[in-house]
Amino acid sequence: MTNVLRTDQVAPHADLVKVVQHHQQNPWRKPCPQHTQRAFEQFLARYQSQPRSLILDSFCGTGMSTALLAEKHPEKWVVGIDQSAHRLAKHPRSLAENCLLLRAEAEPFWQCLTEAGIPLYAHWLLYPNPWPKASQFKRRVHGHGAFPVLARLGGSLEMRTNWAIYAEEFAEAAALIGCRGRVDAFAPEAPTTLFEKKYQQRGHTLWRFAGQFSD
Ligand SMILES: C[S@@+](CC[C@H](N)C(=O)[O-])C[C@H]1O[C@@H](n2cnc3c(N)ncnc32)[C@H](O)[C@@H]1O
Repeated sequence: MTNVLRTDQVAPHADLVKVVQHHQQNPWRKPCPQHTQRAFEQFLARYQSQPRSLILDSFCGTGMSTALLAEKHPEKWVVGIDQSAHRLAKHPRSLAENCLLLRAEAEPFWQCLTEAGIPLYAHWLLYPNPWPKASQFKRRVHGHGAFPVLARLGGSLEMRTNWAIYAEEFAEAAALIGCRGRVDAFAPEAPTTLFEKKYQQRGHTLWRFAGQFSD
């Protein structure tokens, strides 16, 4: 098998517990960027016109997984968010009526949801950027100041990666914020995202963390 990525880590980051606990004790705050605020308002108008359970697909890239989730859950809202207008523009035009793709920064969008008191039924985080150097730990989802916000959103949580250490770290960090789950290697019959497809074609092992926040 080819190397999945260049990293100076051979084990979960030594500062993981300290960093996550620090972020729990010092709630993350950042002004919401204008485009994210606009995207949230667009979502809110749709949501309030027809309240339904919400599935969020953060870091959705082109929105392939968002469309698949929307097909699978026609009775729920399925919202995909990505900061890249370029990636989102690659999504084929037609979308199911329960599906919304938005250009937004994930972390302030999560904050907007919690402030509006809108919980999640499920949250998908598929192949977030790995930030493979140990010095980049705080840029990873679970090393980021906004990670504890996920606990306030609740629901089930699935994160996928092609890096075993990232999955291990994510599970450890998730447990610290009240999300119990497990990590396993898996082989999808058909890819859910473009990165999943690429990694499968390269023969990488795929890892997933699947967990649930307690009520
Ligand atoms: C490795 S790609 C994975 C995309 C898709 N989930 C897939 O598996 O094909 C990571 C994506 O996260 C997006 N991204 C990175 N940081 C983000 C953030 N803070 N908010 C929203 N999107 C972000 C990038 O634009 C990119 O599309």
